[in-house]
Amino acid sequence: MEMKVLAITGGYSGIGLATTSLFIERGYKVAVMGRSEQGLDSLKEKYGDQVLIFQGDVTKLADIEMFYQFCIEKWGRLDVVVANAGIAEAQNVEAVTEASFDKSFNVNVKGVFFTVQKAIPFLKIGASIILISSIQAQKGAGVWSVYGATKAAVRSLGRSFAEQLSPQGIRVNVLSPGVTQTPIFDKFGFEEGVLSNILQQVTAATPLRRIGSPNEIANAILFLASDEASFVSGADFQVDGGLAQI
Ligand SMILES: NC(=O)c1ccc[n+]([C@@H]2O[C@H](COP(=O)([O-])OP(=O)(O)OC[C@H]3O[C@@H](n4cnc5c(N)ncnc54)[C@H](OP(=O)(O)O)[C@@H]3O)[C@@H](O)[C@H]2O)c1
Repeated sequence: MEMKVLAITGGYSGIGLATTSLFIERGYKVAVMGRSEQGLDSLKEKYGDQVLIFQGDVTKLADIEMFYQFCIEKWGRLDVVVANAGIAEAQNVEAVTEASFDKSFNVNVKGVFFTVQKAIPFLKIGASIILISSIQAQKGAGVWSVYGATKAAVRSLGRSFAEQLSPQGIRVNVLSPGVTQTPIFDKFGFEEGVLSNILQQVTAATPLRRIGSPNEIANAILFLASDEASFVSGADFQVDGGLAQI
């Protein structure tokens, strides 16, 4: 099989880690960018030469450029880009500060935009780009006002990128996970007990009566990257156990 290369941001935690692992299992080489040295090292230890690690921040354009240059120098090609890095801070509208607002938009919107823009020179016909949004893009919740807005922006970017790149044979799709068990839960900033109550409510409201696993999201990402999805572009693939679909 011809070697293929995935570049993914945040590919050592949660959904990103499941995606890195699945693509490596399917014969891909995977280039991973993120800020945590420990997270990157653990990947290198596990996957050796199948993975390329690069310490960088998606809010810094120079880091993204160096990441792709490093990837091209090492493997000479780029086939799939997954703009996965994201943050979620649960804050009531009154609690949002200018700094927290800017931080969320910097990582979740600016980061996604330039992760794609800087990849374009290296992408050829048949390439696939997947942007990780969230079902929160189409729902309203006081504590997710900023997060939801960033993810709605990601969905919008997916449409515009698809309009520009699809005629060149580059497919662009958005993947919107529902509630998925990952380390992001520990970063929401909820007080003790609040998260478990929310998860109980979400479970009850989800037609499949459970939350998702990172592997289930990775499977959908693999589908969008594959030739099986050859006529899919500009879509928003929602993988949420039905929560936002009914
Ligand atoms: N889990 C869910 O329920 C859920 C639902 C809908 C959508 N999503 C989305 O799915 C994506 C993955 O989330 P997850 O649940 O897997 O969370 P996670 O385990 O916290 O992973 C997020 C990843 O993003 C990276 N990241 C954050 N800020 C970054 C920055 N400035 N530069 C580079 N990398 C950065 C993190 O690495 P470092 O912090 O070490 O850099 C981490 O590897 C996110 O976009 C999230 O919004 C998740």
